[in-house]
Amino acid sequence: MILGIETSCDETSVALLDENGAVRTNLIASQIERHQPFGGVVPEIASREHLQHLFPLVARALRDAGASWDDVERIAVTAGPGLIGALLVGVAGAQGLAYGLGIPLVPVNHLEGHVFSPYLQREGVAIPRPERFLSLVISGGHSSIYDVRGETATMLNRTRDDAIGETFDKVAKFIGLPYPGGPQIEKHALEGRADRQRFPFPMPQFKADSADFSYSGIKAGAIRLAREHHLSAGGDPQALADFCATFQDALFDQLFDRLEMVWPRLAAPLPSEVVVAGGVAANGVLRERMMAWGAARQLTVRLPEKRYCTDNAAMIAFAAMQRRDGAVDPCRVTVRSRIA
Ligand code: KG4
Ligand code: ZN
Repeated sequence: MILGIETSCDETSVALLDENGAVRTNLIASQIERHQPFGGVVPEIASREHLQHLFPLVARALRDAGASWDDVERIAVTAGPGLIGALLVGVAGAQGLAYGLGIPLVPVNHLEGHVFSPYLQREGVAIPRPERFLSLVISGGHSSIYDVRGETATMLNRTRDDAIGETFDKVAKFIGLPYPGGPQIEKHALEGRADRQRFPFPMPQFKADSADFSYSGIKAGAIRLAREHHLSAGGDPQALADFCATFQDALFDQLFDRLEMVWPRLAAPLPSEVVVAGGVAANGVLRERMMAWGAARQLTVRLPEKRYCTDNAAMIAFAAMQRRDGAVDPCRVTVRSRIA
């Protein structure tokens, strides 16, 4: 069995996977309520919460899986990118366990966790992973499209400023909706109708050949429009719903625009599968639009189960399993807040 540990942001998560990728248990202690009064993640609080929850979760994971330490053959841990203090708690914990048990430790790039997560089992059934696929990682910290071949994920674009989830969160905070903003905006948008005339969100203008994302313009536009229309969480609910529907559409339009740019540039033979991962992949409207985009091109679209969209340790253990060899001396693992 492989033990996965994830502590890069505001979720402490521990998972146990069989060597064939079956998830035996995937426990998540969310800190959302702790950070909510501050409208975003407070790094120092995150570190302390991880410290408090990590080892009790490890013990519970073993109990839930009916496993003992003898069953754990290796440990996978998120080593970056993320909050440095938060990462340190997970990595130091994993180092101690691996060293004490005399088993290998595999440091995992959190983004690779998301990249491969759509191939985690679905309702207990394994999903065959093709050699090559395109993966969109859309989360609170990242917005990138990856061309994945075998073990290698090549980043094709990135955001020049805010990540898509961060844009959801910041605009939601401005209008007084609780953290995290993505699910809140989605909930209000369900009651609204997108209207680009009434809420004209600006689209970023780049040189014709750049496929990068940029969300700061939409963010600034959203804040200006919210002010002009006197929108707030306690105000006119229909106006707020229409605003949320239009804002969400504008964010996703840019995503599909970039996907359209990247697609024809890929070297043939083209991938036959496109996957979407990261917290924003939990969004129902995005999921529907993605399925339609793929269907129009006869592509298979894979979306992770919603519980594997946001941060979790199952995807970290699973990413470690995608590599033939990633184990290192536990004492040599270092954390990195940013990974290019
Ligand atoms: O992957 P994740 O848990 O953490 C990072 O690695 O960043 O993603 C969290 C992000 C937050 O910005 C949150 O607002 C967004 O995912 N999110 C959503 C939805 N659920 C979570 N955004 C849009 N719609 C959702 N339903
Ligand atoms: Zn994440």
